Amino acid sequence: MRDKLQNLKNEAIALIGQAQNNEDLERIRIQYLGKSGQLNEIAKNFKDLKPEEKSEIGVLFNDVKSSISNALSSSKLITQNTSLTADFDPTFPGKKPAIGHLHPVTQAISEISGIFTRIGFTRVRYPEVEWDWYAFGVLNFPKDHPARDDWETFWVDTKEDKKFGRMLLTPHTSSGQVREMERAGKPPVRMINIAKCYRRQSDVSHTVMFHQFEGLVIDKGISIVHLRGTIEHFVKSFFGPKRTSRLRPYHFQFTEPSFEVDISCGICSGRGCKLCKEGWLELGGAGMVHPDVLKAGKVDPAKFSGFAFGWGVERCYMMKSGTNIDDLRLLYGNDIRFLNQF
Ligand code: FA5
Repeated sequence: MRDKLQNLKNEAIALIGQAQNNEDLERIRIQYLGKSGQLNEIAKNFKDLKPEEKSEIGVLFNDVKSSISNALSSSKLITQNTSLTADFDPTFPGKKPAIGHLHPVTQAISEISGIFTRIGFTRVRYPEVEWDWYAFGVLNFPKDHPARDDWETFWVDTKEDKKFGRMLLTPHTSSGQVREMERAGKPPVRMINIAKCYRRQSDVSHTVMFHQFEGLVIDKGISIVHLRGTIEHFVKSFFGPKRTSRLRPYHFQFTEPSFEVDISCGICSGRGCKLCKEGWLELGGAGMVHPDVLKAGKVDPAKFSGFAFGWGVERCYMMKSGTNIDDLRLLYGNDIRFLNQF
């Protein structure tokens, strides 16, 4: 039995030395130390030993058992470490995480914001859920003006306020004009208000939710010349040095005189093509702030004058050379294949 135990120990330790992985080691453990393993098989014969042999074989038995068990546990540690070092190669290039980018409309907003703040405008943002008072009332809209129609404006189902009227989702950023006069307290005012607007419209050039940026300047001696200069500065900065603008007479309730602003077409440079027809693309509205609006903002029209403009962020982005967007709704379709292009 002495030889048998000795051989078993040598055999087990040799096998442990050849093991490739932890599964091999587990198999060896079961084979030698398991319930029906070889050591327990030998132990069954202890009863046949003479009393004087029993203590000697017992010591040897325990020694074999602990030697195999120690060899197994130290080998496990080694194989674990080896597999760790084998799997990790610090010279391998890392896996690049997928990095997104800002939405094109957010990119346009920060570019527009930068163009105006660099020439002294203050960037503000006024409520999307607004009172009729600021969106229409103080801007000279008569009670029955069609802009208030349910087909044009989203109304919020709340109680009507005596002074401010009903609540709505603001259809334009002009609702920030009197709010800004109130905030500033007194002129000068140089505001660039960029915010979400809502109208019941949806086609290739209209979305239900869109963004406008509204400029408002009020000071002593402000004239159309300042408006022209500001528009040209924006057009050249945003669309490129070769683009230019023009003013067309128009009507808005809250500016007098009022204009539509056009920019020269980026494709034909104003000569006329399939996209623009006559060489010009419509940018948005502008004008000199109406005296009634100044009065609503507690600004004396006898001392101060101002200009305002309000244009669509998405439309401007669409007209930027190189974007080639022919349907505004694509910007909000959440199609990553489309958005990845910008
Ligand atoms: C206005 O909203 C006036 N508040 C602009 C203004 C401000 C005039 C200050 C004078 C002084 P208008 O309804 O034309 O005007 O809209 C201005 C621009 O917003 C449009 O030219 C267009 O670029 C954009 N816009 C209007 N409706 C939508 C829509 N549904 N989807 C996308 N863009 C729109």
